[in-house]
Amino acid sequence: MKAVILEKTCTAKELTVSNVPIPKVKPGWVLVKIKAFGINRSELIMRSVEGDAGYISLPRILGIECVGEISDSSDSEFKKGQHVVALMGGMGRSFDGGYAEYALLPQKNVFTVETDMSWEELAAVPETYFTVYGSLFHCLQIESSDTLLIRGGTSAAGLVAIQLAKCIGSVVLATTRKSENLEILKQHGADYALIDDGTILEQLHYVYPDGVTKVLEFIGPSTLKESMKCLSNHGVICITGILGGAMDNFDPIKDIINGIYLCSFFSNYPTQKSIDDIFCYIKKYNLKPPIAKVFSLKDVASAHLLLENNMAMGKVVVLVD
Ligand SMILES: NC(=O)c1ccc[n+]([C@@H]2O[C@H](COP(=O)([O-])OP(=O)(O)OC[C@H]3O[C@@H](n4cnc5c(N)ncnc54)[C@H](OP(=O)(O)O)[C@@H]3O)[C@@H](O)[C@H]2O)c1
Repeated sequence: MKAVILEKTCTAKELTVSNVPIPKVKPGWVLVKIKAFGINRSELIMRSVEGDAGYISLPRILGIECVGEISDSSDSEFKKGQHVVALMGGMGRSFDGGYAEYALLPQKNVFTVETDMSWEELAAVPETYFTVYGSLFHCLQIESSDTLLIRGGTSAAGLVAIQLAKCIGSVVLATTRKSENLEILKQHGADYALIDDGTILEQLHYVYPDGVTKVLEFIGPSTLKESMKCLSNHGVICITGILGGAMDNFDPIKDIINGIYLCSFFSNYPTQKSIDDIFCYIKKYNLKPPIAKVFSLKDVASAHLLLENNMAMGKVVVLVD
């Protein structure tokens, strides 16, 4: 089978497709014929840096998610040909992932789906929608009466957060660093598009002088302190992304403002129930995943470059022929 194997950390342009044997099934695992997969920031980090970490053993087929059909159900209750999505739980890190024609995956990481979405649409769903759905509905417990600030609104996750929050009628404010992207935020449904030029607090207080009730933070520790100031008393902030880099100088006692609630979401533990809930939500509101561009497997390097250069504006998808 064709697969994109990380032999050592490398640049996007050094990613290539190799030929390797199709993995053999074993008890507790199933073989999935992959139809498509989404590209994620975490794979860029794995490819460029994390591959050198002591807990990662290379070579490793990249990819924390994929969509496809059960090719061999092994000792599971899955049926051959059943449509499935798979994500996380060590995929593409502890065991081989989704950048391939086939993947041998633990049964607990594979979930059935019933949908008439195309493979490329389906590939835009698992990791991004699971992350955003969990952040909004489980962590932030968002409701129609909420005013929600999304930091990093033009990220794939940010655009999906706008989409999901608008379905239930929350007011959405979303940020970008680039003035040319303000219109994109509005087109995706944001009520207010804010430019992240160091004056977010002033812009936000202009429309909501007492602050907003919820913040979904995709930029991360670098904007966390400012984002907390955007909240009204008893407001809640969920830190889900680290687009601006990892933690630096954070003292929870001094830095978490009195009366503000801080939580986080980690997409490592999907369940069949959570995947079912997401597809129900998508069906109920007739949602179309925001897809930036679809690549073929041989162009995986270009797919990584598009994301790395912050030019995507939506989910980058690879179709496996
Ligand atoms: N917690 C979890 O389990 C989980 C799961 C999935 C994803 N994530 C994280 O969620 C975040 C979003 O992921 P994604 O794949 O949706 O991202 P993405 O689509 O790659 O986001 C790209 C956008 O982010 C903005 N951006 C990039 N670097 C930035 C920086 N240094 N400061 C501020 N904004 C920056 C840019 O928008 P502008 O140029 O318009 O500002 C860019 O267009 C990532 O940090 C990802 O690792 C976390």
